[in-house]
Amino acid sequence: MFLRQFVFCFALLLLTEYFDETFGLSEGDQGVCAVKISSKKTKKISYTRNSNKWCGKRKCIVKAMRIQPYVVTSDVMMCCSGWQYQSQQDTCVPLCSTGCHGGRCVAPERCQCDPPLLLDPEHPNTCFTPTCESSCFNADCTSNNTCTCHENFQTYNQTHCYRCDQGFEIDSNFKCVPKCDNPCVNGTCDAPNTCSCSSGYRLGDNFTCVPVCDSCVNGKCVAPNSCVCLEGFVAINDTHCEPDCEDCVNGVCSSPGVCECNEGYTKDNGVCEAVCNNSCVNSICSEPNVCTCYEGYQRNETYPNVCFKLDDNCNGTCNLQGDGVCESTIM
Ligand SMILES: *[C@@H]1O[C@H](CO)[C@@H](O)[C@H](O)[C@H]1NC(C)=O
Ligand SMILES: *[C@@H]1O[C@H](CO)[C@@H](O)[C@H](O)[C@H]1NC(C)=O
Ligand SMILES: *[C@@H]1O[C@H](CO)[C@@H](O)[C@H](O)[C@H]1NC(C)=O
Ligand SMILES: *[C@@H]1O[C@H](CO)[C@@H](O)[C@H](O)[C@H]1NC(C)=O
Ligand SMILES: *[C@@H]1O[C@H](CO)[C@@H](O)[C@H](O)[C@H]1NC(C)=O
Ligand SMILES: *[C@@H]1O[C@H](CO)[C@@H](O)[C@H](O)[C@H]1NC(C)=O
Ligand SMILES: *[C@@H]1O[C@H](CO)[C@@H](O)[C@H](O)[C@H]1NC(C)=O
Ligand SMILES: *[C@@H]1O[C@H](CO)[C@@H](O)[C@H](O)[C@H]1NC(C)=O
Repeated sequence: MFLRQFVFCFALLLLTEYFDETFGLSEGDQGVCAVKISSKKTKKISYTRNSNKWCGKRKCIVKAMRIQPYVVTSDVMMCCSGWQYQSQQDTCVPLCSTGCHGGRCVAPERCQCDPPLLLDPEHPNTCFTPTCESSCFNADCTSNNTCTCHENFQTYNQTHCYRCDQGFEIDSNFKCVPKCDNPCVNGTCDAPNTCSCSSGYRLGDNFTCVPVCDSCVNGKCVAPNSCVCLEGFVAINDTHCEPDCEDCVNGVCSSPGVCECNEGYTKDNGVCEAVCNNSCVNSICSEPNVCTCYEGYQRNETYPNVCFKLDDNCNGTCNLQGDGVCESTIM
């Protein structure tokens, strides 16, 4: 009973103190709470009652007073729990019970640090300056060993951020270089989406340079002044290819696999053979209109397409037409 009375008195004391000092607080302000306080008051009330005495035929009426208690309630603005009244500003300020080192107490038990300071997760009442072992480039050290790129900059690696103009990109040397949508083949990207060809090359399509050959007859230019023959063709020198025929003796290979016989020759079994107007006897037609005697045979001088057999035992002139009869001159 005593304790309750004491607490009530103490609270009342506090309330009156607030009541005195906090007239500027208004509901809705930060940390301000409305508290209903009620106080007991008394008032005197006059009333009439009948007296036991008689006044003539009626009982006497007496006027009397009695004291009637009543309760007055009113709202008092005071700082909510976790907040403290500050008289200079006439406001309620949040309380951080263990302090807020290097920061601002923004709500009860809530310490806020202003960048670049950070709240130490292990000691939420302390702000610290993050440190980055390698310094941040185009970036801020936002927590221990963590760099965060400045606005409009992009991440290059853990410590470096970059910004390149449109059409440019960062290269491995941390330089902004022109960017081509496709890699330049045998050329370099010299301006955004513009390839410049290496020497000996010219632009084919926008991103491909093709080799240039001064001449490449019947071939394909595969490198500057370097020809590779088309199929069916063979190289005769660095710039010319000719059609190839497997065997074209005594003929001209006019296109791949097509052999055209020289004059005086004709196709026989796919081979160009010499043609002799008069058929060769005991001889072969070796060149156009030239008969060459078989071995052991000799030519009749009058008829050059005719050869006759030489008699091994004949040391004279064999003058018979091909019948091999020997007429010896030495007997
Ligand atoms: C950040 O680094 C500092 C200095 O090295 C150290 O004292 C602090 O504890 C670190 N803080 C965190 C959250 O790692
Ligand atoms: C990031 O790139 C820069 C520039 O090339 C270089 O100097 C730095 O060492 C790199 N940092 C890391 C963590 O790779
Ligand atoms: C040209 O491009 C081809 C194919 O990419 C490549 O093999 C060749 O080495 C290049 N030549 C030069 C001179 O860059
Ligand atoms: C090549 O580049 C020109 C100019 O940038 C462009 O107009 C054209 O469409 C491109 N052609 C191709 C095949 O990309
Ligand atoms: C290659 O051969 C062609 C045809 O015979 C000739 O016209 C040309 O001059 C030759 N070129 C070289 C470099 O020898
Ligand atoms: C013999 O051949 C030649 C060419 O080889 C020709 O001009 C000539 O008319 C031919 N003679 C006969 C008789 O066929
Ligand atoms: C033909 O003459 C040669 C020398 O000219 C001689 O060696 C040979 O024995 C002779 N043959 C005959 C069959 O007489
Ligand atoms: C050449 O042949 C003719 C006709 O068969 C013949 O009369 C003549 O004797 C021959 N001449 C010689 C040198 O054999």
